[in-house]
Amino acid sequence: MVLAVEWVETPEPMIRLLDQTALPAQETYLDITTVDALVDAIQTLAVRGAPALGAAGALGVVVAMHQGARDGWDDSRLQSEIDRIRLARPTAVNLAWGVDQVRGGMTQGVDQVLTLARGVVTDDEAANRQQARLGADWILERTGLERVRVVTHCNTGALATTAWGTAYGIIHELHDRDRLGLVYADETRPLLQGSRLTSWELTQDGIEHVVQVDGAAPSTILRGLVDVAIIGADRITANGDTANKVGSVSLALACARAGIPFIVAAPSSTVDLATATGDEIVIEQRDPEEVVNFGGRRTAPEGAVGFNPAFDVTPHDLISAVVTERGVVEPANTPHPNLLARIAG
Ligand code: MRU
Repeated sequence: MVLAVEWVETPEPMIRLLDQTALPAQETYLDITTVDALVDAIQTLAVRGAPALGAAGALGVVVAMHQGARDGWDDSRLQSEIDRIRLARPTAVNLAWGVDQVRGGMTQGVDQVLTLARGVVTDDEAANRQQARLGADWILERTGLERVRVVTHCNTGALATTAWGTAYGIIHELHDRDRLGLVYADETRPLLQGSRLTSWELTQDGIEHVVQVDGAAPSTILRGLVDVAIIGADRITANGDTANKVGSVSLALACARAGIPFIVAAPSSTVDLATATGDEIVIEQRDPEEVVNFGGRRTAPEGAVGFNPAFDVTPHDLISAVVTERGVVEPANTPHPNLLARIAG
């Protein structure tokens, strides 16, 4: 299995990132020894996906401490550099969460911070594997099917996490149990995380799938071609509203109309009890140029302006189940202002 985020000690302490902008054409790595390089890697999506961002944030504090020692930063400069990492992207709560998990250890020195950051990484893998088992159990029990056909959106596999994956982890688990039918992977405009990354992972894992344009997904659902939609999450608020890659909400609406389950899968670190509802989530607006160009060539007429929200928010009443490693809740069936408290971190 690939490692999207890895801590490396030699030739110097650094984060090694698999450069996801180059996949699937090239498997190249970025060696990150400065805050500038890490912030750039986060903003260009060389590293991406909420749990992977959490790991990068936690290990990023270690990078900042090493750079601070090299460059003679005082504490105030060090803290403001760490804040730059924390705020590099706004929507996925895991990035700030990862930084906050280790920041308290700074008074005990860089080795302690590294130990805490390594804990963030290993906990995430364990959480992914556990939520995958719980999610697969829930789906098989709820649908009663021998084989489950799945639609998924964006990329939620090992590339988006520390290992195994969230929504992808459930798909993998169903595959391992020999209970998986055809997977429909949305290509995920404008940066193609589905066709470039999810299809790459599905291919490596030998999982039968097709890649469809995002606009096909609602019709695939309404035509009865899938039994369940499974997506990941960037932030799940206390009432169950969920931010995920833009386009997710169209799957949820179609699932409600078709009467099939729409499932959100995430580690408990993605649950943000401090945010009451999806209305409060800051949605990242990316460069409009990502929309009006394709493959390095302009596609829209000169002068046309792109609109590029990176995420959307699915209201909790459209979500059949939220799965974390701590359990499953059913927002559509049991709405409650603090519904997620039971399965939060
Ligand atoms: O912009 P991205 O590629 O970071 O968006 C990623 C997603 O929306 C994922 O679905 C989400 O982070 C969950 S990853 C397990």
